[in-house]
Amino acid sequence: MSTFTRILAIETSCDETAAAVVENGRTILSNVIASQVELHAQYGGVFPEVASRRHIEVIHTVVKQALEEAHLGLDDVDCIAVTRGPGLVGSLLVGVNMAKGLALARHKPLLGINHIEGHIYSLWLSEESESFAFPLLNLVVSGGHTELYLMADHGRYKHLGGTLDDAAGEAFDKVGRLLGLPFPGGPAIDKVARSGNPNAYKFPRGVMDDSFNFSFSGLKTAVMRQTQQGHQPSLLVNDLAASFQAAVVEALVTKTERAAQTYGVTAVHLAGGVSANSVLRQTMKDTLPMPVRYPKPILCTDNAAMIGAAAHWRFINGKFDALDLDVIPSLQLV
Ligand code: KG4
Ligand code: ZN
Repeated sequence: MSTFTRILAIETSCDETAAAVVENGRTILSNVIASQVELHAQYGGVFPEVASRRHIEVIHTVVKQALEEAHLGLDDVDCIAVTRGPGLVGSLLVGVNMAKGLALARHKPLLGINHIEGHIYSLWLSEESESFAFPLLNLVVSGGHTELYLMADHGRYKHLGGTLDDAAGEAFDKVGRLLGLPFPGGPAIDKVARSGNPNAYKFPRGVMDDSFNFSFSGLKTAVMRQTQQGHQPSLLVNDLAASFQAAVVEALVTKTERAAQTYGVTAVHLAGGVSANSVLRQTMKDTLPMPVRYPKPILCTDNAAMIGAAAHWRFINGKFDALDLDVIPSLQLV
């Protein structure tokens, strides 16, 4: 029997059509991502019907390419994994139907994976993960989520808190639009903020209470009020971006630090699109006394390798799904 587990993973929950082959939950044999960012930029956000149509157009090519780049055929993989939620229903359906078809045709086990769990496992795609020790604290910060999860073991989570309104990435995207920056707002704000003053404006830091919850809608409104005070020369846009970013980062770091200390974790893991933010990474590292880890930039935003990594731990425990697996657009992790 082969000592290698190879999983073909598919991810289509939002606006990236992605497929990957992952070996033993750690090694990426291929990681193909067809991004729709340019397609949606004209709308200033993800247009669901357009997203699912594009997934249908490219999914076959993306899966084929993932197998080719891994130098494997379908018969060489042990399992088919796919994101079943949370995400856009029409987008999720494209990936799940593709995975079901492949599993049925080749008699392979099928695994439906939670997208958030995928982001958490993006950090395990490294040799270094062999030395990770539990408990770990995961901060998942993406376009749709801002959540703190304590992880006691593989697949064992406790939800400590999350956003009460907008997700951090959503706030970056909305403020980016307010400031006239290109979509998505996160990377654009990260870039212009480098030449801005983070102390130029004092924006609200959200819920500064004993909970592990966040709130970013008041911050977004405060930036909007400021922008309504007339035309902003580009220098002020940089200051607004830097001040907004400083407020988001402070809110995230404060709660994460307290959760990490309360639960005595061995390390803090940042995941999701916003974990690519340069100031967030640096401030977390400078502030927290324990190791702070984050994925390579390509693994921060949506990809299928992370789905394959999460699937590995379910696969070795034989936790398979039936072939009538359905999508769950509002799937919770715990
Ligand atoms: O994880 P992801 O690809 O999608 C979801 O699952 O939601 O995250 C996308 C989000 C977008 O809101 C984008 O603006 C944000 O991640 N993002 C960033 C950065 N890069 C991407 N936010 C702040 N700074 C960045 N460097
Ligand atoms: Zn995501």
